Amino acid sequence: MAKKKEEELTYVDKKGKRLDGRGLTDLRPIKIEVGVVPRADGSAYLEWGQNKVVAAVYGPKECLPKHTADPLKGRVNFYYRMATFSVPDRKNPKPGRRETEISKVCSEALQKAIFLEQFPNTAIDVHVEILDANAGTRIAGLTAAAVALADAGIPMRGVVAGCTVGRAGGQIMLDVTKEEEDAPDAVDIPIAIIPSTEEIVLLQMDGLFTKAEWEKALPLGLEGCKKIAKLQEAALKKRFETKEFLESVEAERVSEQALPQKPRVNPVVAAGPMLSADASETLDEENQEMEEALEEEVEQ
Ligand code: CDP
Repeated sequence: MAKKKEEELTYVDKKGKRLDGRGLTDLRPIKIEVGVVPRADGSAYLEWGQNKVVAAVYGPKECLPKHTADPLKGRVNFYYRMATFSVPDRKNPKPGRRETEISKVCSEALQKAIFLEQFPNTAIDVHVEILDANAGTRIAGLTAAAVALADAGIPMRGVVAGCTVGRAGGQIMLDVTKEEEDAPDAVDIPIAIIPSTEEIVLLQMDGLFTKAEWEKALPLGLEGCKKIAKLQEAALKKRFETKEFLESVEAERVSEQALPQKPRVNPVVAAGPMLSADASETLDEENQEMEEALEEEVEQ
């Protein structure tokens, strides 16, 4: 019965308007707020249509368990979770296959953007909580996570920005809703890019496009990603230009000067698994000896 009702829906009317009144190339309303979780190193809250997402970043920190550490680069542990109340049918709180898959693809997308080689043997934990869901939550989560990473001061090639493109009622459209995702001919394609290089870091396809449809959909999706990137940039600028933020940076600087310096990442851990504290001291001594020898040579 429900299926029959869906088939009767007109996904795009004669004026080109969709069920929620948007045009084919319009995004849902988006709001991004930075620095919403004071305990985290970086965080963001994002509303994308009905979707509501919180992202919190912790790290870079020591990678535990230690055998998971990579001596050449840092790890990105992405945890995508949906709240039990985020969808009409109560979601089982236990992480399922879908959450594992989304966490994996989002982690891989962020790994392409972060300069992970600067953080060997460490981990960056990225937590994404979906509080309310209406299609496109992986992209909403990834977009919020990228802003949270920037808020945490993690060096990146660029802030990852994403968007979905799809088909409903025979029409190619940007940013599909749940209703459109449930259309009989639905196709849903999440895309994420690093806007500065246009490198695609996430691309999935639920449904099938013809070649002609794909050629129309891809530029539309990339355009959508670039619009999202502008919103991310504006949210970050807003955060870093506030009086409170500038005052907090100043207060941190003053307190750091007053206290003995404590490195955030243990330098021995960061140097590699084979390097014990003793070994690192020996290396320091050797370096000093070499420097002294060089100085002597220059003087002669
Ligand atoms: O959210 P996204 O489009 O990235 O992923 P999806 O697997 O294509 O899910 C599409 C939508 O289905 C979600 O955004 C939710 O609105 C809905 N959903 C649901 O109602 N119950 C679930 N357990 C999972 C998803």
